Amino acid sequence: MSAGAEATRPGGAVSEGLDAGHVVFERVAEAYDAARPHYPEALYLALEELSGVRLAGARVIDVGAGTGISTRGLLDRGARVVAVDRGGRMLGVLCSRTECAALLADGNELPFRDGAADLVTYAQAWHWLDPALSVAEAVRVLRPGGAVAGWWNTVDAGRADWLAAYQVRLAESCDGYVGPALPGWSMPPIAETMELAGLTVARTWVGWTRSVRLDDFLTDLRSHSYVARLDERDAEELVARERAELGRVFPDGRLTVPMRVYLATGRAEAPVV
Ligand SMILES: C[S@@+](CC[C@H](N)C(=O)[O-])C[C@H]1O[C@@H](n2cnc3c(N)ncnc32)[C@H](O)[C@@H]1O
Repeated sequence: MSAGAEATRPGGAVSEGLDAGHVVFERVAEAYDAARPHYPEALYLALEELSGVRLAGARVIDVGAGTGISTRGLLDRGARVVAVDRGGRMLGVLCSRTECAALLADGNELPFRDGAADLVTYAQAWHWLDPALSVAEAVRVLRPGGAVAGWWNTVDAGRADWLAAYQVRLAESCDGYVGPALPGWSMPPIAETMELAGLTVARTWVGWTRSVRLDDFLTDLRSHSYVARLDERDAEELVARERAELGRVFPDGRLTVPMRVYLATGRAEAPVV
């Protein structure tokens, strides 16, 4: 799929026996940065509204920051961000492009003091971490009244037949595929996990439309974990097949892709004094 769906297999966990997320993305860091979609303005507005944290001036820890797509979105809106990732190559791309504090660290064990952050974010990343440990760590480093937020960009296959058919082809070709064509597929259960941790949870979907060149869409495809895990020949065949299939739908080489972002936030309520 073009976007998002390193989300979750049925049952809510990233499948076992596969490389950890920080390993698999190391192979595709450049493709990831070049072609993954950004997040729409409406996502950042919803983030402020649901979390109750104004981004301008906020101390944000962006966990699983990767090459910096989410980090730059937060910085552009005035947040003071520390990017955290376990993947050195992903973080290397971030540092080469972005003036920002960055830490090579495990999001399940954050190297920050208690109460250091207004907001802890996981953009397209929380499902790679330990669900309970990561949220407990986020709660520890938040100030009272701060918030945790997770979001995932995904294609909206229900809005275009070609996109639904594309997802089915990927599901048939890639063992590790996760996405809308998988029966029982759902967004990662971050909202439920935050509720269990005592946070006040809110969630929403933000729809948007992506205009993207076919070449970039195929580079994006290569950056997905389930394609990165294929052997090189199978990956090349898959990309060549999709170039032909999608080229028939969009002969001018520019795709219009219906997208949506799932956002869940959890507020750590300030104690009443
Ligand atoms: C799909 S990328 C998301 C990148 C970025 N936030 C974005 O919006 O595009 C997921 C990132 O999570 C990182 N990651 C996986 N496990 C991690 C862990 N335990 N601690 C910190 N980062 C981790 C991976 O290295 C990868 O860069």
